[in-house]
Amino acid sequence: MDTFEIRRLGAADGPAYRSLRLEALERHPASFGTAFEEVAGHGPDWFGARLEHGITLGAFRDGALVGAVTLALNEGAKLRHKGDVVAVYIRPAARGLGLGAALLGRLVAEARPRVEALRLTVEAGNGAALRLYDSLGFRAYGRERRALKIGERYHDEVLMELVLADDSPHPEPALEPTHPHDPESPRAA
Ligand SMILES: CC(C)(COP(=O)(O)OP(=O)(O)OC[C@H]1O[C@@H](n2cnc3c(N)ncnc32)[C@H](O)[C@@H]1OP(=O)(O)O)[C@@H](O)C(=O)NCCC(=O)NCCS
Repeated sequence: MDTFEIRRLGAADGPAYRSLRLEALERHPASFGTAFEEVAGHGPDWFGARLEHGITLGAFRDGALVGAVTLALNEGAKLRHKGDVVAVYIRPAARGLGLGAALLGRLVAEARPRVEALRLTVEAGNGAALRLYDSLGFRAYGRERRALKIGERYHDEVLMELVLADDSPHPEPALEPTHPHDPESPRAA
């Protein structure tokens, strides 16, 4: 029977993570903002050092790394209330088993005491990822047209957010149309 484990990755995981990350970037260029060529020249130690100083969770099946997800935190005083979920990847043979959901669930638990909200971007045509994030409570709050340009082709991205703590003392007022008959007003269907 298969055994599964999820744990935080560190320097010693550099070689395995390098192979996973390069596979992800090579197979799914539209799913990531980093280009394969930008990091393929780095060795295991470079990847290991980044793992040691960041928060990346790995999913293991029978001891082999089959997926990972990273929480990117901001250091700036005005930005550190929110974090970004990046580099989400499950190897093809391990998809559909619930590992993506399990990894993200653990990452949300790691993020909860640290930030008030998590954000991520997902290519607009990536139905599997959109459904995965939606099932975890992430909600779309915008769309960036032409977010990525790969060769001559552009890719739109959906911007998603998961609010972890919302105790803002100044809730935004409901949108009211400034011109009731304006077809562009928020109330128009
Ligand atoms: C997106 C990805 C991470 C999903 O990982 P996974 O381990 O297969 O996902 P799970 O098995 O945990 O599925 C969780 C939910 O995601 C959705 N989902 C996952 N794969 C899906 C698919 N192929 N089609 C439709 N929905 C899918 C479903 O809602 C599913 O819940 P359900 O099984 O109850 O229906 C994986 O397909 C992947 O690595 N893709 C390539 C890289 C990528 O797109 N990364 C995201 C960049 S933003």
